[in-house]
Amino acid sequence: MNLLSSDDLTKDNINKIFGIADTINAGKEALSLKEHTTVALLFQKPSTRTKVSFASAIAQLDSTPIVIDAQTSQMSRGETMADTARMLSSYCDFIVARLNKHTDLLEIAQNSTVPVINALTDLEHPTQALADFYTIRSHAKVMKGTKIAFVGDIATNTANSLMLTATKLGAKMALIGPKECKPNAKILNRAKEYGSVEVYQSLEDGIDDCDFIYTDTFVSMGEEAEAEARRKMFAPYQINSKIMGIAKESALVLHCLPAHRGEEITSDVLDGKQSIVWEQARNKMLLAKAVLLYLSQNSQ
Ligand code: CP
Repeated sequence: MNLLSSDDLTKDNINKIFGIADTINAGKEALSLKEHTTVALLFQKPSTRTKVSFASAIAQLDSTPIVIDAQTSQMSRGETMADTARMLSSYCDFIVARLNKHTDLLEIAQNSTVPVINALTDLEHPTQALADFYTIRSHAKVMKGTKIAFVGDIATNTANSLMLTATKLGAKMALIGPKECKPNAKILNRAKEYGSVEVYQSLEDGIDDCDFIYTDTFVSMGEEAEAEARRKMFAPYQINSKIMGIAKESALVLHCLPAHRGEEITSDVLDGKQSIVWEQARNKMLLAKAVLLYLSQNSQ
């Protein structure tokens, strides 16, 4: 079993992963991967949280992470994804990969004999969505009907994985962004088959009944050439104290980080009492462990 897309997991699968995370959190049972497990962490793009949280999670599960920076591997000299996958899966028990193109991740998965985990591609960020919803679950009284706003670049990989995970769990999703920025139609339609996703252009209209407000960078990795135009387009979608004044008093704020203080979010909100961003970031390691344990139990 692989985790390439948030659509690979059913509601039951997600709840089982959350159950493993609860068990780890309770600290009563020592969980570990099978003896001598090694995990290839193949990163083609920068990462702080995902790379380090997976590496620490693997070490804490009595296993060995092997970090491969694509720029210093033979991938940088043209070795194919398929050949890389054949080799890595003959040495390691899992491949965790952050790649520019989702199609490259699919090629890795097709040629791997071990489970492959998406650590972010241009299309999705499923392990992030799991950490996010585990965090939301610990604050929401019930997931069903809980409304989450994703504000800003609603075409991004994070928005895609969030809307799939939200709707599977019975939460409602509001995507709030400028008219020039269209959500991925295929993923939006799929998420709408599972539950409620509304698209708004007005931040004021979309946000007022949301329980959680989520934002992300206005300039994703690989979009640096368009940075100035994107900052201008998304500027009206900044999460700041004025917007928090329109939102529910009980609304909580999420951000997958890294944050660009003063762009998509102001420091007073990011560090304020309604922010659960740092708890969300901590949960990435917990969910990395839970995903590895879940896949190891379901990939025999
Ligand atoms: N949220 C996230 O994926 O962070 P990194 O890019 O630092 O891994």
